[in-house]
Amino acid sequence: MFLNILIALTIIYLLYKFSIRNFDYWEKRDVPFPKPLPFVGNLLDLLTLRASIGDLLANFYSTFKTPYFGIYIFNKPYLIIRSPTIIKHITVKDFNYFPDHTLLSDEKLDSVASNLLLFAKNPEWKFLRTKISQAFSTGKVKNMFPLVSEAAKEMNSYVTKNQNSNYMEAKELCAKYATEVVATCAFGLNSNCFENEDAEFRVIGRKLFSFDLMNGIRQISYFFAHGFVKLFRVPFFDPSVANFMRDMIHSTLEHREKTGFKRNDVIDTIMQIRSKSTPQDACKFEGDIIVAQAGQFYTAGFETVGTTMSFTLYEICLQRDIQDRIRSEIKDSLIKYGELTYEGIQEMKYLNMAVCETLRKYPVLPYLDRICVADYKVPDSDLVIEKGTPVYIPMFGLHYDPEYFPDPDKYDPERFSDENKSRLPSYTFIPFGEGPRACIGERLGLMVSKLGLCYLLSQFEVVRCTETPVPIIFEKTGILLASTVGLPIKFQKSPLITA
Ligand code: HEM
Repeated sequence: MFLNILIALTIIYLLYKFSIRNFDYWEKRDVPFPKPLPFVGNLLDLLTLRASIGDLLANFYSTFKTPYFGIYIFNKPYLIIRSPTIIKHITVKDFNYFPDHTLLSDEKLDSVASNLLLFAKNPEWKFLRTKISQAFSTGKVKNMFPLVSEAAKEMNSYVTKNQNSNYMEAKELCAKYATEVVATCAFGLNSNCFENEDAEFRVIGRKLFSFDLMNGIRQISYFFAHGFVKLFRVPFFDPSVANFMRDMIHSTLEHREKTGFKRNDVIDTIMQIRSKSTPQDACKFEGDIIVAQAGQFYTAGFETVGTTMSFTLYEICLQRDIQDRIRSEIKDSLIKYGELTYEGIQEMKYLNMAVCETLRKYPVLPYLDRICVADYKVPDSDLVIEKGTPVYIPMFGLHYDPEYFPDPDKYDPERFSDENKSRLPSYTFIPFGEGPRACIGERLGLMVSKLGLCYLLSQFEVVRCTETPVPIIFEKTGILLASTVGLPIKFQKSPLITA
């Protein structure tokens, strides 16, 4: 008995020693850091569900006023950058030292996720990004405009049918629209999201971004518990999600090959890339690499757009004057062009200011991450970032820093007027990331979000109801930003132009 207790205590002691073995790392390098705890490092609030990873980094951001500081995730040292100048070096000027994200990319554990651009490591990433960029060109995005408009019209019919209900959940509505956009633009399919609440596209989408504990653990572990993922062989995607993407993409490719049908969409672009591949390419453009390139429209496309649109609707249902100004701009455009057009939407300055303010207050990803691949001396400092050190850029912290955005909790599109924008220091507003690894879908995401908002607001006013959460409580699990109770709001018919 005594021996057993002794063995147990020895094991606990050894584990304790192991867990704190790196805790002098930042001190030795003269980098400030919050006091870590054995076993969890600085993650206590995250692991006890008191803060999301975005909140946690933002809290540290406001505590430390230095250009950078360190934290410990479990026992591993991470460097957090506060200074916009250093952010520019890491994301743009010295990109070669920081070319990859920190996400685990392991073909054997998840052959779809590991080939998504977000996960892929160099040199495969560079090869894939160069190839797939053509699917996101201005011309391709403009070509998608009529298809996106069709999805927006379906959304308006759906709201008309349901407007007598007490409220609609804006996030779910916008996610349906964005899913329909992805289905039609990327795969030439109809998602049936508006006709059928349990349409497969939407069911899989909900599964992908649900905030249940398992999904939270899975997503968070791919960021910073690689050992756990490898030990328990956890795939990033629930297997049903990966299989859905495989079936959908392969059957669409097969159908196009058999019929020669062309639609100038993402699948066509992928077929072109495949036909031009050579044995000298950095990787073979086939199998799950192809599934991932098409699938990332789905995984990266609908949640981001749905979040941006729904938080905009939420804010303008609370601030009537902002809503009126956006609606009046939409009305002017409808009068000028007779309908909503690509050019008309590009010209809407105030709508753009409001969407930027949404992306400031509700950045879809609350931080950017990079991994250092060769020892790097930080300019104007003695610090050398060692190869293998993960580096985080706390977007949430920057976007709520009162030095750059006074009264940061206030939703105020005026921050992004031409005059105010020109005063904003570079690299403080970074909703799409920065540098070669920035969001490839920015142009598409903005067009789809703005067009959806214009269609809705051309027909409806959005109004606060008793269920609308004020203030919003954010989910504590998962990486992406979301309200715990969704965003219930009321839509009231109020066409800007009557036929
Ligand atoms: C409003 C909508 C969107 C927001 C706010 C957003 C935001 C972001 C952010 C912050 C990143 C990380 C950038 C970095 O690390 O520097 C990213 C990466 C990415 N986004 Fe988006 N995104 C949006 C829409 C889209 C859409 C519509 C697509 C595709 C259909 C897309 C595809 C991607 C991909 C593939 C990456 C990884 C890029 C790489 O590592 O090379 N995004 N996005």
